[in-house]
Amino acid sequence: MTFSNRLIQWYLENKRDLPWRNTTNPYKIWLSEIILQQTRVAQGLPYYERFVETFPTVFDLANASEEQVLKLWQGLGYYSRGRNLHKTAQIIAFELNGTFPKTYNDLLKLKGIGTYTAAAIASFSQKEVVPVVDGNVFRVLARYFDVETDISSATAKKEFSALANEIIDKKRPDLFNQALMEFGALQCVPKNPNCLQCIFNESCAALQKKKVDLLPIKLKK
Ligand code: ADE
Repeated sequence: MTFSNRLIQWYLENKRDLPWRNTTNPYKIWLSEIILQQTRVAQGLPYYERFVETFPTVFDLANASEEQVLKLWQGLGYYSRGRNLHKTAQIIAFELNGTFPKTYNDLLKLKGIGTYTAAAIASFSQKEVVPVVDGNVFRVLARYFDVETDISSATAKKEFSALANEIIDKKRPDLFNQALMEFGALQCVPKNPNCLQCIFNESCAALQKKKVDLLPIKLKK
């Protein structure tokens, strides 16, 4: 069985039921990813629910006042994220006629949407085959393949993206990406992961070499 097939099987059996996983609406996926940047799922969840309820479409968000948006944002911190969210909604609503960009390359052109968010939206909403690379993904791949690249280096993202590209499920990139992140969040956790009951404990390079606690390598804070 391939890494990807095993991972997806694990995901289907162990995933948390999160509302943004039950939609292919790019607007809702975008909202969830912006809210979840630097915010834990448990903390972000009620914000996501309130945003979707208050602003069901990108037009509702665009037509709101900045004050109204920031009021809903209150408690999440990093207010520039909330402000950018609002500005980008206005660009999509008024300059792009409400058509949410869907491809990775078009998404990247938007303010506040970087490679991570563009890949998340494109893969989850369109099944575009682009790997999502966040901290969880760095950790899982660094351990499984024993990659000693410093994840704080300028080239790390490119390197891990290339690796993820080689193993991504071409037919189910959405599931693969969600699964890899979820595996990092629930099983392959930073501290004291339970490798004894891990599905990959016979193939994980770091485990074989007793390097789980050494990987990923992060040189600067
Ligand atoms: N954190 C960031 N994006 C996420 C997602 N799609 N599911 C769960 N946690 C996340």
